[in-house]
Amino acid sequence: MHRASVSPVSAQIRWGIVGPGRIAEKVVEDFAVVPGARAVAVASRSLDRAQDFAGRHDLQRAYGSYAELVADPDVDVLYVATPHPQHAAVALAALRAGKALLVEKAFTATTAGAAEVVARARADGIFVMEAMWTRFQPAVVRLRELVAEGAIGEVRSVQADLGVTRAFDPADRLFARELGGGALLDLGVYVVSFAQMLLGTPDTVTATGSRFSTGVDAEASLLLGYADGRSAALMTSLRNALPGQARVYGTEGWIDVLPRFHHPQTIVLHRGDAEPETITRPQLGGGYAHELIEVTECVRAGRTESAVMPLADTLAVQDVLQQAAEQLGVYHAEASANL
Ligand SMILES: NC(=O)c1ccc[n+]([C@@H]2O[C@H](COP(=O)([O-])OP(=O)(O)OC[C@H]3O[C@@H](n4cnc5c(N)ncnc54)[C@H](OP(=O)(O)O)[C@@H]3O)[C@@H](O)[C@H]2O)c1
Repeated sequence: MHRASVSPVSAQIRWGIVGPGRIAEKVVEDFAVVPGARAVAVASRSLDRAQDFAGRHDLQRAYGSYAELVADPDVDVLYVATPHPQHAAVALAALRAGKALLVEKAFTATTAGAAEVVARARADGIFVMEAMWTRFQPAVVRLRELVAEGAIGEVRSVQADLGVTRAFDPADRLFARELGGGALLDLGVYVVSFAQMLLGTPDTVTATGSRFSTGVDAEASLLLGYADGRSAALMTSLRNALPGQARVYGTEGWIDVLPRFHHPQTIVLHRGDAEPETITRPQLGGGYAHELIEVTECVRAGRTESAVMPLADTLAVQDVLQQAAEQLGVYHAEASANL
């Protein structure tokens, strides 16, 4: 095992960014509000793109290949922001080099890909986390506290929806099968992960939906079933906009998570017959800072998993997504990342 020597407690955790696309542009800005962390390097398949990104975001080093960043001894953690089918290949190469990882959602394109990354990380004792930023939003943290305190009794059901209208472009990663396109992996991952966070791993998954001409799912409604009668009703779409609302039902009330629930500021607690209680918890930076703080703190503490976004949950969510996709006739595959 080749473990990176992580900086001592007082030193900064040094981050590298793989795939300077749309989301990396936003996430990198949030390092400004993350104590003890700094983005120091970026890798693109194009040196020009890497240099442009590094120049605009004040990074020290720019690489024209992912392999060069993976081999950089002065980087502790990689943030993987390529399309989903390239996550596993980058993650496995990074783990071989002893680098800790924050991997964008969806964690991988397939359950097998996710299992391989998780097995490698666990075998080598290296920190890996899925970038499911929803779980770290202060309003969602408060929701979990309220549920744990019994504010709405026993949670019996979750409803959530997330959808956007996007002009169909068969070459775009949202629609191209070889780039892991489809609503489920891009947006469905949020509704499934939210339900899994509150209800655990379902016993049954039933999906209804439609596909684009590229063969990926355009829209999906999911019913997650639990042997004890609990359930989740979830919707996702790239065909039409959905409000992005979530509601958590308990035996003694419910909690509304106001749009958009995957990075909410406000939840409303409906406790029995009491007046609704509106609770607002602002985010740090663009809302990505919270997951960056979690990873930075875990890596500094020598932990190999996040307790808030554990790898078992990531695997369970990936499995639900694959089951749903296959029921709609959608089959994904992992891809090489040209390392
Ligand atoms: N947390 C969030 O809020 C959020 C939001 C959006 C997206 N995401 C996730 O982040 C990931 C990237 O999404 P994005 O919207 O940023 O995508 P994007 O704009 O298309 O950027 C992806 C980057 O990946 C690199 N890449 C590597 N192999 C590629 C290939 N075969 N085709 C295309 N690009 C390739 C490209 O960078 P180079 O060519 O320069 O290397 C590209 O800039 C996805 O997994 C997505 O689900 C998360």
